[in-house]
Amino acid sequence: MTGRQDWIAGPGRALQGRVPVPGDKSVSHRALMLGALAGGETRVSGFLEGEDTVATGRILGRMGVRIEAPAPGERRVRGVGLHGLQPPAEALDCGNSGTGMRLLAGLLAGQRFDSVLVGDASLSTRPMRRVVDPLARMGARIDTAADGTPPLRVRGGHPLLGATHVLPVASAQVKSALLLAGLYADGRTRVQEPRPTRDYTERMLAAFGWPVEFAPGVASLAGGHRLHATEVLVPADFSSAAFFLVAASIVPGSELWLPGVGLNPRRTGLLQVLQLMGADIEVHEPREQGGEPVADLRVRHAPLSGIEVPEALVPDMIDEFPALFVAAACASGETLVRGAGELRVKESDRIAAMARGLRVLGATVHERPDGAVVSGPLSRGGGVDALGDHRIAMAFAVAAQCTPGPVRIRDVANVATSFPGFAGLATACGMGLEPGPAG
Ligand code: S3P
Repeated sequence: MTGRQDWIAGPGRALQGRVPVPGDKSVSHRALMLGALAGGETRVSGFLEGEDTVATGRILGRMGVRIEAPAPGERRVRGVGLHGLQPPAEALDCGNSGTGMRLLAGLLAGQRFDSVLVGDASLSTRPMRRVVDPLARMGARIDTAADGTPPLRVRGGHPLLGATHVLPVASAQVKSALLLAGLYADGRTRVQEPRPTRDYTERMLAAFGWPVEFAPGVASLAGGHRLHATEVLVPADFSSAAFFLVAASIVPGSELWLPGVGLNPRRTGLLQVLQLMGADIEVHEPREQGGEPVADLRVRHAPLSGIEVPEALVPDMIDEFPALFVAAACASGETLVRGAGELRVKESDRIAAMARGLRVLGATVHERPDGAVVSGPLSRGGGVDALGDHRIAMAFAVAAQCTPGPVRIRDVANVATSFPGFAGLATACGMGLEPGPAG
């Protein structure tokens, strides 16, 4: 992170134009990791130039993987093979990235050398036992701080054995860590989830030639194969598109086009929920890109009505709740969110962060342990705190387009972790958003 930064946001005007949101964060992390462990050169295009994914690239570089960036959004990964990583000379810094740290924990558990994973202040408070405990059942030796948080000290040289994991939490990060460890394990590793989560690791392993069986909610693979370099085309990140879907929905007169957005069914819960609320979003030219469904989205302003968010959709929109809370505060009636307790252990406690800020802007929010009841309207501007959480910052920038007065959003620098060009794209399509002195 590059020091404290604030925004002064809104009010805006009708949003118009084409918004090319950057590449998918989940796919970008995995492309580098699998490319590093493959034989041959993996070419990645549409790579997210965000701090999180760049940190993963730097970590792989510390372990001897050559990654070239011939142009922005392009990577050439010279794979070193499953057993070709070199011991790192120092601790590996994942920055703000839970995905980076948890997936790397699985990958590093299978190495012959020791390593240490560290992160920034936010990541250093996040729960890691969810990944360390099941890895230990495969034979991994990983120490955490006493309360189960980073740093992670991974002891290498312990042989891994395949295991069957029945996960208590729906988490693609945990599932992926176990599958990555499973590449190094003797025998079969199976993962069963309480609800299906994003399946990029499974899809990408198959694209790299590793035999893997998967269906919604289950995945399994055996050790003892090889990864073969391939080409990865990263779709635009639905989670970044989400802010513009909500912004255009709530600002009268808006119409935006979002090209090439990834529509993996495990990511598009917000699309369904916004449509249930009355949003006018059309899916144009659905196609396949690098094994992933993508399409161009057209979104136009429409009056929204509050709903009860179907609990089964929660994992399919787990990163979209900050944006949804804003839509809910601009809708008529109440919106009820349940079964989303995971939001409390994201980059911030996203239920508390959104509740606090939306109340400042005039909304009514009743917090529950696993969700909230939200209703509008957003009747005033004011000062809100993003708490260094990228998605909270962007959600409040969107909310500010509908408040009568400007909103000062504190601590927004981490937007660069997932969406470095957000402010530029937002202002280009008509959002009111300027840097403000940190205060
Ligand atoms: C991710 C999984 C989700 C998501 C995160 C990215 C991934 O986290 O919130 O932004 O790439 O696997 P959990 O596994 O903690 O739900």
